[in-house]
Amino acid sequence: MTILSSLSPRSLAAPESGIVELVNYARGRDGLIPLWVGEGDLPTPDFISQAAQESLRAGETFYTWQRGIPPLREALSRYYQRHFAKTLSPDNFYVTGSGMQAIKLAIEAVTSPGDEMVFLSPAWPNFAASAELSGVRAVAVPLNFEDGKWQIDIGRLEAAITPKTRALFVNTPSNPTGWTASHEDLKAILALARKRGLWIMADEIYALYYYNGVRAPSFLDVMEADERILFVNSFSKNWSMTGWRAGWIVAPPEIGQVLENLIQYSTSGVAQFIQAGAVAALDRGDAFVAENVAKATRSRDLFCDALIATNRVETLKPDGAIYAFLKIDGVTDARRAALDIVDKTGVGLAPGTAFGEGGSLFMRACFLRDPRQIAAAAERLAGYIAAL
Ligand SMILES: Cc1ncc(COP(=O)(O)O)c(C=O)c1O
Repeated sequence: MTILSSLSPRSLAAPESGIVELVNYARGRDGLIPLWVGEGDLPTPDFISQAAQESLRAGETFYTWQRGIPPLREALSRYYQRHFAKTLSPDNFYVTGSGMQAIKLAIEAVTSPGDEMVFLSPAWPNFAASAELSGVRAVAVPLNFEDGKWQIDIGRLEAAITPKTRALFVNTPSNPTGWTASHEDLKAILALARKRGLWIMADEIYALYYYNGVRAPSFLDVMEADERILFVNSFSKNWSMTGWRAGWIVAPPEIGQVLENLIQYSTSGVAQFIQAGAVAALDRGDAFVAENVAKATRSRDLFCDALIATNRVETLKPDGAIYAFLKIDGVTDARRAALDIVDKTGVGLAPGTAFGEGGSLFMRACFLRDPRQIAAAAERLAGYIAAL
């Protein structure tokens, strides 16, 4: 037995990310316009970094609250009041070391090995991979794609539920499709979860990146107090903090001690200076988020309009999130096409093959960048498509 083969089958089965494969292939090339990962082109604003620096200078370098420092949980409560008109207590919030960790902890909290978790596909690959790593079968339910638009089929979702299903994982607005659940969709999913006794894991991290109103419809709008819903969230996208690794969970206070224990036995809490930065982001960052959303709106329009004009790309402008998910006429192998596109045009895209069932013919582009760069990327891609 080799050292490698003596590892657990579960860890050996964890897939390599199909997005990272592309990044590793062409990282740092001259003239590259990287649209492959889900982040903007701006560093974190100064007022957030300064708050973290002040915390470090003040000697806040010790172990701290497992659930998150009280000022951060209070700031989260104010944030939800402002953006969701929802009164939540600091006891509803649990600070995590990223949105990714929030997802992992939510799965740990709700499922046991052998259970099933149903999710909508195409999807960010980490939902399914982290469930599988916990011994949970991730069951994909494809969204419908018609005339460039993605839609949920509630009947199909219900048909995927078995006696082993413990949770429905719902990401809206969705990475990568931009599909955004309407209030009717959310009510139908919630009714289904109640009827079948399931948890909902709600990933609404892109709620403020919404192009048909102030923010996307949320389960918070349609739920009663203390339902079986775990919201996973992140500081990454709203405040350009992808490198900070900070997120949070919204949960019923009744399960607080269990979540605290799970945090204890994974990271034992998030560094206090990171949390100090997060407080500044929440309390003083609304204008920055609005700028990010305005930039995404402009870049989305530029990018999608230019590609739709080729008449070779099937897509509508997404309702939410920060991605265009493009079906390019003539592309039959998205992974090979992404390698070819980055070689020939210097535009880095994520291949739809990385997003599972229903995504294999698509390419994902993150448009949260300077509109001039986005226009240049669209022009290069349009040239590539014309030559196909
Ligand atoms: C839908 C969704 N959820 C969660 C995350 C995780 O974000 P992070 O781990 O950077 O907080 C991402 C990142 O791309 C995402 O797209």
